[in-house]
This record gives sequence, C-alpha cells and structure tokens, in this order.
Amino acid sequence: MTGLCAERVVVVTGAGRGLGRAHALAFAAEGARVVVNDLGVGLDGTGGGASPAQDVVDEITAAGGEAIAHGGDIATTEGAASLVAAAVDGFGRLDTLVNNAGFLRDRMLVNLDEDDWDAVMRVHLKGHFLPLRHAAAYWRAESKAGRGRRARVINTSSGAGLLGSVGQGNYAAAKAGIVGLTLVAAAEMGRYGVQVNAIAPAARTRMTERTFADTMAAPDGPGFDAMAPENVSPLVVWLGSDAAAGVTGRVFETEGGRITVMEGWRPGPTADKSARWTPAEAGDAALDLLAAAEPPHPVYGAH
Ligand SMILES: NC(=O)c1ccc[n+]([C@@H]2O[C@H](COP(=O)([O-])OP(=O)(O)OC[C@H]3O[C@@H](n4cnc5c(N)ncnc54)[C@H](O)[C@@H]3O)[C@@H](O)[C@H]2O)c1
Repeated sequence: MTGLCAERVVVVTGAGRGLGRAHALAFAAEGARVVVNDLGVGLDGTGGGASPAQDVVDEITAAGGEAIAHGGDIATTEGAASLVAAAVDGFGRLDTLVNNAGFLRDRMLVNLDEDDWDAVMRVHLKGHFLPLRHAAAYWRAESKAGRGRRARVINTSSGAGLLGSVGQGNYAAAKAGIVGLTLVAAAEMGRYGVQVNAIAPAARTRMTERTFADTMAAPDGPGFDAMAPENVSPLVVWLGSDAAAGVTGRVFETEGGRITVMEGWRPGPTADKSARWTPAEAGDAALDLLAAAEPPHPVYGAH
C-alpha cells in the first residue's frame, strides 16, 4: 500500500458512523491498517444492538484495505486495553490513536440530572483518557525497548468545549477537559516520540443533523457539500501521519474547507500590587483590566 499512512496502524474510536467512520475510511485510503472501534449505542449512549464497526471494516476491505472491528466500550479499562491489544495482536503495532467516540445528553443546567452529567463526562473524558493511557504505556515500553514510534494521538474536542455552548454544560465541560488532557499528554509523551493534538470539528452526523438542520444541510445541487464529515478527515489523517512531525499540543477547528488554529488561554492585561488587595481595590483593578482586555468570544447559543 502506498499513501501518507502506509505502514501505519491506526485505531479510531466510535468509527462505526459519522466522523469516526469518515476518519477510518480516509486513513485506509492512505494505506493505513485500521482498527475500527464502535460500541454501537444510540445518540444518548443508551440502547444499541449490533456494532456498526463491522460494516466499516467491510467497506475498507471492499476497497482493498485492511481493517479489523472492535466492539468494546472505550470508557472502560477492559475496552481500552483490549482496543490497544487488538492493534498490536492483529497488526503487530500501533502508530496512531484517534479518540472520537461519544454521545450527547443536552439539557439546560437547571434540568441536568446527575446521570446525564456522569454519562457524558464518562464517555468523552474517561473515554479519551483510558485509550490514551493504554496506548501511552505501549509507546513508552516500545521506546524503552529501542523501537521508538513516531506515534500520534488526535483527540476530539468541540467548539462547545472551547467557547461554551448553551444547553451543553456536561458536554462543554468534558470537551474543555479533553483540551487540558491534550496539553498534558503532549508535554508528557514527547520524550517517547508521541505527538498529541486535538480537533474541534463540525459536520453533519446524527449528532447534529436535527439540532442544526439548516446549517448542516447538504446542497441541493452539485456544489461543495461543506458539512459532509469526510471534510474533517484530511487534517486528522495528516496529524496522524509521519508528515506532521513537530506538531503537538495544538487545537485545530476544522469544518468544510476551513482549518483554523485555535489560540488558547494566555495572560491578558495584568496588575500586581505586590501586597494584598482589599475587595474594593481588587474590584477596581479588575474593572480596569477588563476595560483593557479583548472581549470574550460569544458562547454558542447565547443571545
Ligand atoms: N458532528 C459534529 O458537528 C461534532 C462537533 C463537535 C464535536 N463532535 C465530536 O465528534 C465525535 C464524533 O461525533 P459524530 O458527530 O460522528 O457522532 P456519531 O453519533 O455519528 O458517532 C459517534 C459514535 O461513537 C460511538 N460510541 C458512543 N459511545 C461509545 C463507547 N463508549 N465506546 C465506543 N463507541 C462509542 C457511537 O456508537 C457512534 O457510532 C464526538 O466526540 C463528538 O462529540 C462532533
């Protein structure tokens, strides 16, 4: 196989549909052997039935590629460990991990049940941590054994996590947490040859096709279908390849034909009294600093 990812073994979580499926197909088209993970749950994380992972494996195989299915829950130790093992046992190695699986339980904060909080934090935040943790242990062992990999991790955040989103307190908190995890992982894992970046995508999937029906709609005619999930995958494939050498700890917004580097928290205007403020003084200082600061980007859905 030739291509940007020839010789690479890539794991994609939640790859039975939507963005993950598009990523898996795009990696395979660039020569990667792919482990297609999907638990096969409903839009709110409940129910399920047969995992759609095998369907994507069949698509890859029909196009001349190589893939295996994994139907485990990536937010469990067993699921995450067996996912890394599926790559190593099935294809002899692991080079790239794409953390993508997840679901929504949107509610306004006053109506957000503890279960809806826990389920969304679990699938996104723990569901990123556990595969990352098991892949990282594998890459550290490989590095110590003298088989350093040019390993890559692509995490999936969201505009909701970067800027906030009304009705998505659980999801926004989890997706913001994924950015923090990405920064730490990039800093800790660089010595083992592992690069870790995050994307904030937007595309038409079952997650968005109803809530944002107008913005996500496909064009009537033959024009560019900007919200097709396949438009997000090229950047993910590049970040997951050897070609992205030196790029780590960054967050990219990607949708349609547009790629944006998101610039994160950094110190703005500052004041230092070199002594303790009174509350009234602190308030005066805060108001002066706010007057000199950039206004915040609007929260999604705020009016
Ligand atoms: N679609 C968008 O516009 C958009 C925007 C921002 C972020 N995202 C993020 O992109 C990722 C993919 O979303 P999508 O839009 O393709 O949604 P999707 O519902 O089409 O796909 C998600 C897949 O994850 C699987 N999954 C859920 N829980 C799992 C678990 N515990 N273990 C394994 N698989 C599991 C589901 O079965 C499903 O096939 C998500 O993390 C989502 O939050 C999507």
